[in-house]
Amino acid sequence: MKRLFICLLALTAVLAVSAQSIYDFKVKNEGGQDVSLAEYKGKVLLIVNTATRCGFTPQYKELEQLYDKLSGEGLVILDFPCNQFGQQAPGTIKEIREFCTANYNIRFPQFDKIEVNGEGTHPLYAYLKAKKGFGGFDLGDKMGKLLDDMLRKQNADYDKNADIKWNFTKFLVSRDGRVVKRYEPMDKISDIEADIRMELNPVLSNIMARRSVRKYLDRPVEREKLEVIVRAGINAPSARNWQYWAVRVIEDQKLLSDVSEVYKQANPDMVQQDKNFKNMFRGAPNLICVCAPKDGGFDLDAGLLGQNMMLAAESIGLGTCIQTGPVRFLLSNEKAKFFLDRLDIPEGYKLLYVIAIGYPDEAPDAKPRDASKVKFL
Ligand SMILES: Cc1cc2nc3c(=O)[nH]c(=O)nc-3n(C[C@H](O)[C@H](O)[C@H](O)COP(=O)(O)O)c2cc1C
Repeated sequence: MKRLFICLLALTAVLAVSAQSIYDFKVKNEGGQDVSLAEYKGKVLLIVNTATRCGFTPQYKELEQLYDKLSGEGLVILDFPCNQFGQQAPGTIKEIREFCTANYNIRFPQFDKIEVNGEGTHPLYAYLKAKKGFGGFDLGDKMGKLLDDMLRKQNADYDKNADIKWNFTKFLVSRDGRVVKRYEPMDKISDIEADIRMELNPVLSNIMARRSVRKYLDRPVEREKLEVIVRAGINAPSARNWQYWAVRVIEDQKLLSDVSEVYKQANPDMVQQDKNFKNMFRGAPNLICVCAPKDGGFDLDAGLLGQNMMLAAESIGLGTCIQTGPVRFLLSNEKAKFFLDRLDIPEGYKLLYVIAIGYPDEAPDAKPRDASKVKFL
């Protein structure tokens, strides 16, 4: 029996992970009819497992306020009542719906009750959990500490798996179906609202989605796309519009592999440790080299150019990684001189950084950002 249970769990996980996107899933509405999540393509989704008798139940009020404020801009909240946490969502979906309407005037879609953990896990939740695991509770928060104490008593390793830990866990999904973030029940709705506002705006969503990519498909980027990206680059601001920069786009695969051979000879250990090593530029099929005046007076302008290019690339489905590591190597190894010669760098300029670019073969999570670096005066 136990083995069958494990097999079923594994199967749900495999099916969920092999799903191409969130729009592949079907859920049941309160009338028991199938609803395809494809209906929500193009919307920003906040998916939440709820309960009507939980300490967090008053969050319904905040969620309704959020929906009221932002549904016109494209937010949909998808509510999945779930009775798996302290049996705090008893009754039928009809009764739950009546309670929510009477007490909180809920207008966002509420679906049939589901299970989010264990044998009966709904495939949608297996998918969400596979995309965003448990990142821990905020232990500085009273409820975070309380839940941590309670769950750890039941299972000392409760935090080692991706299971949903309690009612009102939330997942944010972008307009194109990317699972952006997972929130634990005590996470502030105001922070979630800020993230939602970023996702509602395509420019901000693109900024939030960009990550340094270090694994690429063996597929060169089309010339038309590279041209669009460079055009976005040179539209960056520069001091007095002097445009003191020089950009070199490398499509010549042999040039990249020849210089990587030099790198390999100089760093055999590092190359051996890197299972994915394809070339010294994080394995990207194309490279954009950015040069600036040697005195360093216009590095800032060149940096702005680079950010424009990386965001342009992200917006058309390409991955990038800005790098200075390889530049240090190129400038210090005599045998790599042929590469710098090919760049034909203008007199008085230096190679400042490179941007690896290609079709991504990984989707790294965002690294944490430190909001305390910002002060409002
Ligand atoms: C000036 C600069 C130099 C960097 N050099 C390298 C590098 O040599 N190799 C590398 O893999 N990443 C490099 N990075 C990428 C950073 O590691 C990355 O931006 C940072 O960890 C934040 O991650 P994210 O870009 O995914 O948000 C560099 C980034 C900058 C801005």
